[in-house]
Amino acid sequence: MPHAVTDNCIRCKYMDCVEVCPVNSFYAGETMLVISPDECIDCGVCVPECPAQAIVPDTDLGEASHWLELNRKFASLWPNIVAKGQPPHDADVWSGVPNKLAEHFSPNPGDG
Ligand code: F3S
Repeated sequence: MPHAVTDNCIRCKYMDCVEVCPVNSFYAGETMLVISPDECIDCGVCVPECPAQAIVPDTDLGEASHWLELNRKFASLWPNIVAKGQPPHDADVWSGVPNKLAEHFSPNPGDG
């Protein structure tokens, strides 16, 4: 069962997660990253790397299972990312802000 990136990544996008992934399964959007569920081997090493606690196993998603489908969809559209880039300058301001998906998610690709 794969892991998924969830709401608190939006506008935080710290990218500490990408370099520990042994199978390079992260994909970059403009405001967040996603994990390809088809590539994730469920090792979980990315979970403690995320300062925003945004990565969860799909078994913990419950009613938030739409995040798994969002990860799947955008992993097929956005570029693969394997190296940490520069996080947004205001990333810390956005960490913990609830429900960012509705207003702050961008479907545009980021830099891979
Ligand atoms: Fe997002 Fe956390 Fe990675 S904020 S980019 S899932 S380190």
